[in-house]
Amino acid sequence: MINYCEKWDLNPLLLPRHIGIIMDGNGRWAAKRHLPRIAGHRKGVERVQEITELSGNIGITALTLFAFSDENWRRPEDEVGGIMGLLRWYIRKEHKRIVDNNVQFRVIGDRRKLSMDIIELIEELEQDTEKNTGMHLSVALSYGAHGEILRAVKKIVDKVQEGNIFKDDIDACTFESCLDTQGLPPLDMFIRTSGEYRVSNFLLWQLAYAELFFDDVLWPDFDSEKFISLVRQFSLRERRFGMTSEQIAQKIVAHKHY
Ligand code: IPE
Ligand code: IPE
Ligand code: MG
Repeated sequence: MINYCEKWDLNPLLLPRHIGIIMDGNGRWAAKRHLPRIAGHRKGVERVQEITELSGNIGITALTLFAFSDENWRRPEDEVGGIMGLLRWYIRKEHKRIVDNNVQFRVIGDRRKLSMDIIELIEELEQDTEKNTGMHLSVALSYGAHGEILRAVKKIVDKVQEGNIFKDDIDACTFESCLDTQGLPPLDMFIRTSGEYRVSNFLLWQLAYAELFFDDVLWPDFDSEKFISLVRQFSLRERRFGMTSEQIAQKIVAHKHY
């Protein structure tokens, strides 16, 4: 079996467990080539396949990809229709591979806005990968963090009203268990492509202590080498979580001893 961390010269102990990516720049990629925007989205899907497979191979626990935002419904009808068509094609084509690769698939976001046949394709894939034990692949569709947080608040209110939990017992864990990302490890690394410096309503709660990476490459040009170079940069960052560098150094020593 190939050791992918060795192949890519990565330290497996310093990898992010959970990576979230805003895959941006498909439209500009197409415009640069005088192609319709959908051509950029099509090329973008190829990168999704490449980066997903690579993430699984190097041992990432969870990969969350922003594919279509709640705000993207505002785009011209033909573009929205084209993206939905690609989505159908992607799920049908990738279904078997995702199941066979032991991936745990889920869609996050407000899926009620999607068409019935797409919801069925998603649910089928979620069910067929439910018992898998490999990487968590979450695709954010019709997703907005404000909506996700509000849905979580409503779930908690229901629990309080039903007497299943006391108001004073609500803590961060309770809240996280009501988010769409429930059960996933904390978000360690955030990537946005295409040189835009904003988070566009993506994983706002989960971003609390993520390391942020903004890259100029347009998503359809975001290849394995680029991805690995960012993951390598992540490994070099010191994450302090409010502590001092000295404390972190001691913790690392302590880990080595015990
Ligand atoms: C990201 O690419 C994909 C979606 C939002 C669906 P864009 O379509 O936003 O590409 P740009 O930002 O216009 O280049
Ligand atoms: C955000 O991209 C959503 C996805 C990549 C799917 P946008 O390109 O729609 O974001 P804004 O509106 O420019 O911030
Ligand atoms: Mg964009």
